[in-house]
Amino acid sequence: MEEEKVKEPQYRGVNELRRMFLEFFESKGHLAMKSFSLVPHNDNSLLLINSGMAPLKPYFTGQEIPPRRRVTTCQKCIRTGDIENIGKTARHGTFFEMLGNFSFGDYFKTEAIHWSWEFLTEVVGLDPDRLYPSIYVDDDEAFEIWNKEIGIPADRIFRFGKEDNFWEHGSGPCGPCSEIYYDRGEKFGCGKPGCTVGCECDRYIEVWNNVFSQFDNDGHGNYSELKQKNIDTGMGLERLAVVVQGVDSLFTVDTNKALLDRVCALSGKEYQKEHETDVSLRIVTDHIKSCTFMISDGIMPSNEGRGYVLRRLLRRAARHGRKLGIEGKFLADLSKTVIDLSKDGYPELEEKQSMIFKVLSEEEDKFNKTIDQGLAILAEMEASMVSAGEKTLSGENAFKLYDTYGFPLDLTREILEEKGCGVDEEGFNAAMKEQKDKARKARKATNYMGADVTVYQSIDPAITSEFVGYDKLSVDSKISVLTTEEELVEALTDGQTGTIITDETTFYGTMGGQQGDKGIISNENGEFKVKDTIHLQGGKI
Ligand code: SER
Repeated sequence: MEEEKVKEPQYRGVNELRRMFLEFFESKGHLAMKSFSLVPHNDNSLLLINSGMAPLKPYFTGQEIPPRRRVTTCQKCIRTGDIENIGKTARHGTFFEMLGNFSFGDYFKTEAIHWSWEFLTEVVGLDPDRLYPSIYVDDDEAFEIWNKEIGIPADRIFRFGKEDNFWEHGSGPCGPCSEIYYDRGEKFGCGKPGCTVGCECDRYIEVWNNVFSQFDNDGHGNYSELKQKNIDTGMGLERLAVVVQGVDSLFTVDTNKALLDRVCALSGKEYQKEHETDVSLRIVTDHIKSCTFMISDGIMPSNEGRGYVLRRLLRRAARHGRKLGIEGKFLADLSKTVIDLSKDGYPELEEKQSMIFKVLSEEEDKFNKTIDQGLAILAEMEASMVSAGEKTLSGENAFKLYDTYGFPLDLTREILEEKGCGVDEEGFNAAMKEQKDKARKARKATNYMGADVTVYQSIDPAITSEFVGYDKLSVDSKISVLTTEEELVEALTDGQTGTIITDETTFYGTMGGQQGDKGIISNENGEFKVKDTIHLQGGKI
């Protein structure tokens, strides 16, 4: 068997790996900087910092002067793209740490590649025979470095296209990248013929991403060469730990496992015995970590923006704790474990400890009250169901519980199922849709500086529109943004409702009270009826 021959790296803990990485790059002349706050600074394009390079954008573009041209960080990151699915598998969490070494117009491809290889093979001690670099399809320069200088045979270097090996996030610095994959062995593979680097299964995992950040995307897909060539590397710390510790997932690396064990101890449950329980254990473990870090950076639970993300994570953790059978309040207690496990890299956690406990505890109280109130109301609804001889709770009532009392549908469903009853989910969805439609109409008035979480938040802040309607009634201009009511899109089709932003516009936009212009935007592909024009934050009309 292949696995029996390969060398296993020496075991290292997450905190040790973090230190090893920062020290290695300090020895290569880098300034080790503290992780930046999770709250982006001067960057409206992000709700929360989601990668190592995000807080460093002004250094890449040359807008600001970095404290040194070589910097290394371990950045706390949160990605909440699909909260609903977090926990269902062990592949993703919301919180992770990203190791990075950065060059702002200093070294470029040669050093970046050599050092990534040196760190993985010599410092961490990964078996070179299990590592496979990938490069951007026509990046022959990177190929030569891997092949001639590092000595990787050509057939072990994979060329991938823009999908995989070109890193960009909306507008700003971007470029081709060279990743390093680690072969975890056959036992993690799908076993399908042709399974190799790039396969979707768990065998070959990407550990390192070297981005040769040499272009600037203006947000319209136009690339210009940056004056300076930069390096932006990223390596998920927990992912590296998965490889080094030979464990099966992010949830079983040493620090996360210790936290998960604590959740097991509080609930009296065991991990990897039963799927539903595992989902709840993972949700509590992941979410309490995100919540603890978010509060330490000054985010407070609220009904909008970051505060809403925090509230959702916190309440989801509280609910799944209940589901696991944990009695009484437990979030502050668990956050103590998070703090103890992570204070090595993030001393601010310990400094803010009492504030973190207080915020968690108060929000948990509020949530528990919501639940208790909801339970009482549900009991009344059940009583009238029973007396009417019904077994299904109406969609309208389930929605009332959810919307007015904040009582989650799955809890309603669960409680009723235990009693052999059910919920009219179609009715619930219809009531939900009706409510959303109403909210959408109401949202119009709050777009300018108002509602925090809207589709408009994902628009690149660099995009603006110029009002040219003082002396013209129509103008030819480029479309810079198209959205539906939910998301940014490439196209709108017949009958769809959405938003258009153009570089120049003759439509007068309201900033509040007044009436926005109505009219037509058209091109050779179709016609868009403008029902209203509004001003968005950041000079967009
Ligand atoms: N920006 C790249 C990433 O997030 C490398 O740091 O993967």
